[in-house]
Parts: sequence; C-alpha cells; structure tokens
Amino acid sequence: MNMREKLDKIWDDISSYIVANPQELEAFRIKYLGSKGLLKELFTELKSVPNEQKRDVGQLLNNLRIKTEGLFHELKEKLSSTVTDEGTVDYYRPGNEEPIGARHPLSMVRSEIIEIFSRIGYTVSEGPEIEDDWHNFSALNFPPEHPARDMQDTFFVEKGEKEMALRTHTSSVQVRVMENSQPPIRTISPGRVYRNEAISARAHCFFHQVEGLYIDKNVSFADLKQTLLYFAKELFGEKATIRMRPSYFPFTEPSAEVDVSCTICNSKGCNVCKHTGWLEILGCGMVDPNVLEASGIDSKTYSGFAFGMGIERIAQLKYKVNDLRLYSENDVRFLNQFTSEI
Ligand code: PHE
Repeated sequence: MNMREKLDKIWDDISSYIVANPQELEAFRIKYLGSKGLLKELFTELKSVPNEQKRDVGQLLNNLRIKTEGLFHELKEKLSSTVTDEGTVDYYRPGNEEPIGARHPLSMVRSEIIEIFSRIGYTVSEGPEIEDDWHNFSALNFPPEHPARDMQDTFFVEKGEKEMALRTHTSSVQVRVMENSQPPIRTISPGRVYRNEAISARAHCFFHQVEGLYIDKNVSFADLKQTLLYFAKELFGEKATIRMRPSYFPFTEPSAEVDVSCTICNSKGCNVCKHTGWLEILGCGMVDPNVLEASGIDSKTYSGFAFGMGIERIAQLKYKVNDLRLYSENDVRFLNQFTSEI
C-alpha cells in the first residue's frame, strides 16, 4: 500500500466517526488531533519518506489535517445544537396547550334550575330509577287499569318476584319525600326518566326532569303561579311572562300546562313557537288530596302544589338545539360548543 492509499483509508475511518456526546467528541480530538494523536504520528513518519516523495506526501498529509480539523468543528457544532441536557432546555418556550373539557349542556341547565329554586328555599331530593308500581303510579292516584297509565309509555322490568318499572317521571321521588317527612315540604327532584317511545328528533326513550313539590298550610294556586313566574323570569330574563292552560294529570287537581313567552322572537311569532308567541315548558297543579292521604299527610290541614319540566326542553330553548338525540350521542363537535359556558 502506498502512502496515498494509506491516507485515504485513514480518512474513511475518521469521516465515519460518530459522536453522541461531549466525552466522545473529546475522545475524537485526542485520537486524531491530540499531541500524541494519529496525525502527529504521521507527520513524524514523513521524516522517513524518501526525499523525492516528501513534497507530495506532505501535501496529502496537510490536506488530511485540514479535513479532520474541519470535521471536528462540524461535530462540535452539531452537538451543541441538539437538546441533550439541562444546559440546552429552553425554559421560556410556551407549554403545549391541553384541550379543555366542557360541561354537558343538560348538566348546566340542571344546575341553573336547582340554583333558581334553592334561592327560594327548595331542597334537592333524589330517588331510585327502578321503581315499584306504588311510587311511580298508585300513590300518585293512578288506579290499576286506569287509562292515565298509558299517558306515559312504561318500560317494565322484572326484579325477583316483583314487577318493577323504569320510572316514567320523578314524581316518584316526591312520594318518597312525603312518606318520610311532614310539611312544610319544599323540594325539587332532578333526575333521569324513561319512556317507551321511538327515538326521533323530538322524542327519546329517556330524558331528564326536574319536578317540584311545595306542601304547607294554606298553599294556593296563586302561590303556584307566582313561583312559576319567578322561575320563568330568572331563567329566561325579566321580560318573560307565563300563561296557564287547563290540563289533566291524575295527581293534581286542578292541573295546568304552562307556556312561557317566546324568548326567541319576543312573542312576535317564529318557527320555534310555531307563530303562537308561546312555548310550552312545564306541567303543574294543586296536589290531589288523594295523593297527600296516600303518603300519610293530612289533606284537611295541608295543601300543596307540584310542577314538572323536561331539562332537554329547557336546554333546547336556551341553546336552540332542535334535535333531542344530540344530547346523548356524545359527539364532541356538539359538546365542544359549550366549552366557553363553564
Ligand atoms: N309528572 C308529570 C309528567 O312527567 C309532570 C307533572 C308534575 C305535572 C307535577 C303536574 C305536576 O308528565
């Protein structure tokens, strides 16, 4: 092997050297460029090269030194631009943004309704979703075989010997409250309820309700009306008004359906209120004396009112959502729109 070939071979080794940290870079420097390094050794060898070749070999050797020094600086540069240890971490770099969760619109409306009623002394009560016939129907003045039971298409379930039902309304919770306490009673019962209906934009097999119950001495229909007017104004704004239409529920007498003035068109008439200027939001009435007696409350001393509303319906009006199914599909594109409401 002549000198030229030998130097080429050495350059191959040098140029394929891999440096991962400052210690390895220093090892590179010592091995090739150090005072006892390979290049120094080669320059010493040059002395023994025959005179006529000295010039050429000297030039080749010099080139190799320049290339190796160049490579050393290149490797040094690369090493300092990679983030490998603390000295090179940029503490001022903004952090990665984490997506923020959103509360479900139904929880927001539910909390708002609870808040409004708690300001006038209502407590919150809860009960089971799987109910017996007594709490869901009989205690509420639905006699067996009475056609009013068909008003609420019921899912029946077997639980041991007993036939049970998924509660069709949270009035069942109010029966439990009446059974377990004496007036004055002022409570609302929020919760999920089930009805055997085909799922569409306007109906679902489950939805959420808030029902209210107030029982004391001398409670009148005027109290009911004022309470609901207060509620409508708190929820929809000072300009909101209500109207009552006669209706029928087995557990209240008299009964009414309540409409609120359309907040979307200011009662001028629009698609949502079907050009009537009014939106139906809840059912209500004076608690039937039979219901009070069934739960052990003296109907001669006490009277009371009850009301019930669907949370989806209120949310639909507040957020202009026209398809009920959106509430339970968990589509983040829908849910994300409520992020700013937290
Ligand atoms: N429980 C009734 C329903 O689910 C609503 C209601 C409650 C009506 C209280 C009147 C009084 O449809």
